[in-house]
Amino acid sequence: MEGALRQFFASRSVLVDSVGGGYREAVDTLEAFVLRGGKRVRPRFAWTGWLGAGGDPAGPDADAVIRACSALELVQAAALVHDDIIDASTTRRGFPTVHVEFAEQHRTATWRGRPEQFGESVAILLGDLALVWADDMLHWAGLAPATVARVAPVWAAMRTEVLGGQYLDIANEVAADESVEAAMRVNRFKTAAYTIERPLHLGAVLAGADDDLITAYRRFGTDIGLAFQLRDDLLGVFGDPEITGKPSGDDLRSGKRTVLYALALETADATDPAAAQLLRSSIGTDLTDAQVERLRSLLIDLGAVTRIEERITTLTDSAFEALDSSGATEEGKTLLRESAVAATRRVA
Ligand code: IPE
Ligand code: IPE
Ligand code: MG
Ligand code: MG
Repeated sequence: MEGALRQFFASRSVLVDSVGGGYREAVDTLEAFVLRGGKRVRPRFAWTGWLGAGGDPAGPDADAVIRACSALELVQAAALVHDDIIDASTTRRGFPTVHVEFAEQHRTATWRGRPEQFGESVAILLGDLALVWADDMLHWAGLAPATVARVAPVWAAMRTEVLGGQYLDIANEVAADESVEAAMRVNRFKTAAYTIERPLHLGAVLAGADDDLITAYRRFGTDIGLAFQLRDDLLGVFGDPEITGKPSGDDLRSGKRTVLYALALETADATDPAAAQLLRSSIGTDLTDAQVERLRSLLIDLGAVTRIEERITTLTDSAFEALDSSGATEEGKTLLRESAVAATRRVA
């Protein structure tokens, strides 16, 4: 995957240089962001989905499939770079976010205008570039034309769904939607569909899988994807920033309507009005570390953390049921189970 991504960036080099005027340096920042890592969850699920649907890693299609799966990391770069503007996040993958980095560049160079606006503008453009390059990378992956045609609707659905999920996320925040259902819908589209369900679907379609396997993969992927996001909710509040590469407590400060928060509020409303009041008055405010610590205890005491862990277990069980009774290869089932555990039990 790294090789395919590196090669793709290299293939755009002449075009980028022909524009000149500092574009190269900006694009280098995008490349560094992509190559710096991340867990590569989406391409891995796509590739494993392909294997499980009978794809042959030693066969003639493997290189093109690797390139097609790796293109998902460019969609991810676009999603993250823009998400960090939307969420006003300052750290990502252990480094300053792209908009913060360019604001800093502006400040250091004492250019004209507002550094923040420059930073965000550059990050919008680089996010757009990553998204269009994702399309390019898929299109020119070297797949047979019939395969490209089969993959297109899955790719199209995934891109539309993730943007829908991102929209619902911010809409729930501003409308202060407190329901568990609303938070689950966000997770379904912002994360589950985009991170696991559609990548697996993509892998299956690349291998020419039948409808039964696609249905089983999608059920498995939706459940594991939801569990992945529920784990993310926990890490967003309790995670170690040194390991996650993202600040801890940011979800609370930014007012994100997570399932964790919605479950805590549900219990507090029923049993502890003072706690409910504290949750409502705290979310989305500039909390001190001590206040975040107090909220962490509250989320535990209200049983919300336990309920999230229970949901993760239930979702994982139902995902495994779908997988076990599917027509995936035995090797594919084993690899998918391992990837699912890694995605839902992770600490980063
Ligand atoms: C972060 O995705 C955004 C979510 C949908 C939770 P990842 O947790 O996969 O981020 P990277 O790619 O590993 O950095
Ligand atoms: C990001 O969601 C989802 C996508 C980029 C599609 P979040 O805002 O919840 O994720 P983090 O916590 O910033 O990674
Ligand atoms: Mg977000
Ligand atoms: Mg975010």
